[in-house]
Amino acid sequence: PRDPVAKLLLFGATGDLAQRMLLPSLYGLHADNLLPAELKIFGAARHDHDDEGYRAFARKALDQFLPEDRKNEAAIASFLERVFYQPTDLSDPESFTPLAEKVGDIAGGLAIYLSTAPSLFESAITGLQSVGLAGTTVRVGLEKPLGYDLESSREINDAVAKAFPEERTYRIDHYLGKETVQNILALRFGNSFFEPVWNAQGIDNVQITIAETVGLEERAGYYETAGALRDMVQNHILQLLALVAMEPPAHFDGTDVRDEKSKVFRSLRIMKPEEVPQMTVTGQYGEGAVKGQFVKSYAEELGQSSTTETFVAIKAHIDNWRWQGVPFYLRTGKRMATRRSEIAIQFKAVPHSMFAGRGGLLQPNMLIIRLQPEEYIQLLVMAKEPGLDRNGVRLREVPLNLSLDAEFAGSRRRIAYERLLLDLIEGDQTLFVRRDEVEAQWRFIDAIRAGWDANDVKPKSYPSGSWGPSAAIALTERDGVTWQDD
Ligand code: BG6
Repeated sequence: PRDPVAKLLLFGATGDLAQRMLLPSLYGLHADNLLPAELKIFGAARHDHDDEGYRAFARKALDQFLPEDRKNEAAIASFLERVFYQPTDLSDPESFTPLAEKVGDIAGGLAIYLSTAPSLFESAITGLQSVGLAGTTVRVGLEKPLGYDLESSREINDAVAKAFPEERTYRIDHYLGKETVQNILALRFGNSFFEPVWNAQGIDNVQITIAETVGLEERAGYYETAGALRDMVQNHILQLLALVAMEPPAHFDGTDVRDEKSKVFRSLRIMKPEEVPQMTVTGQYGEGAVKGQFVKSYAEELGQSSTTETFVAIKAHIDNWRWQGVPFYLRTGKRMATRRSEIAIQFKAVPHSMFAGRGGLLQPNMLIIRLQPEEYIQLLVMAKEPGLDRNGVRLREVPLNLSLDAEFAGSRRRIAYERLLLDLIEGDQTLFVRRDEVEAQWRFIDAIRAGWDANDVKPKSYPSGSWGPSAAIALTERDGVTWQDD
């Protein structure tokens, strides 16, 4: 049952995420009348704004980041009337008293969104508790990064758990807010025909790619402590893997969906240090051209040399009955040839081809779920080419296409954070990450890092605008599998 709160408190209210995503998302929900009518939004950060000053700041962010066709002066004005601000220093215990006064009565429920460095979580939680902003009517949303390994993530989770039990803790992975990601569930569990072949008997391999064209984006301070493995695989890629691999949940709710995802994470094969060099490839972008634009190398952007990986490819296994022997090839990188997030599922070849010698080679069927930038689902099937070939029939691979862009052309594309903010405000945990999931994800990631350290693995340079180091191609080709690139 949904249980909307009357107040939202946003820490990090002047940060980059707030400007680009959170304020535009809250505005989007407001403009579509999806927010509780009485909802008040309190921004908090170190900047010294008053309410009016922050409203001007928020207006500027909306001006800059809302698409033109979403800007509506009346809606912006009424949105800003909901917005208030309190200068707050999370590391200063004194800061919380005026904050609590500003927020006032929380009997109608309060949702807190911590979009700040996790190093501040502990003092934030203590501060909130000390002024009564952590009681049973309060829930908390946590932005990544939630630690940099299992141990540090446990410390963060322990600190949060002192004030907020799991059922009031909402860990954000913004990939779960994307429409196309939720569509994986619709495709798998809203249709009957995939499920019978959705296993090791039917599927040869699964490929998950998140390729970006952007580089460091002035995030050196954070990215240097993370790298592609922690930044993208630990969270987004593993969440996609879980949605593809999990057993059918009994209900679409926070308990059942997360139980099933968690089982997948617990079944991920943990690599031994000596296996890691064989099962992973790391890279760092050198200079090159991305879509015809010359771009600098990572080291040059950073201003010094570094061993942080901006690309990683992994051959993963899920040790359970359904997926025995099916490799999951995962890869993500910055400064790649093109921006693309995609899941490609390659089915087994036919057991016997009656066309052998009389119609060319059969390609195994492939299901492609393109998450972004386009949104479509494509099933590659063999079809007969028209013609009167005397030697037999000529077969060709052709796509069965479902363009979600075209099919749902009338509906607005929403920012992933709209879904997640609405669910936080209304109290639905289905699309948030549970503690046991995070910890199992880290266990898999930590083993890879330990293997890199033990074997002194350093990222290989790859040209910007490519698909990563050539070793990433070898990773699949060794198994006779080719990455699905067009
Ligand atoms: C973030 C990472 O979590 O996801 C960024 O920190 C990355 O490095 C981003 O660019 C990608 O998100 P999206 O929605 O653009 O695919």
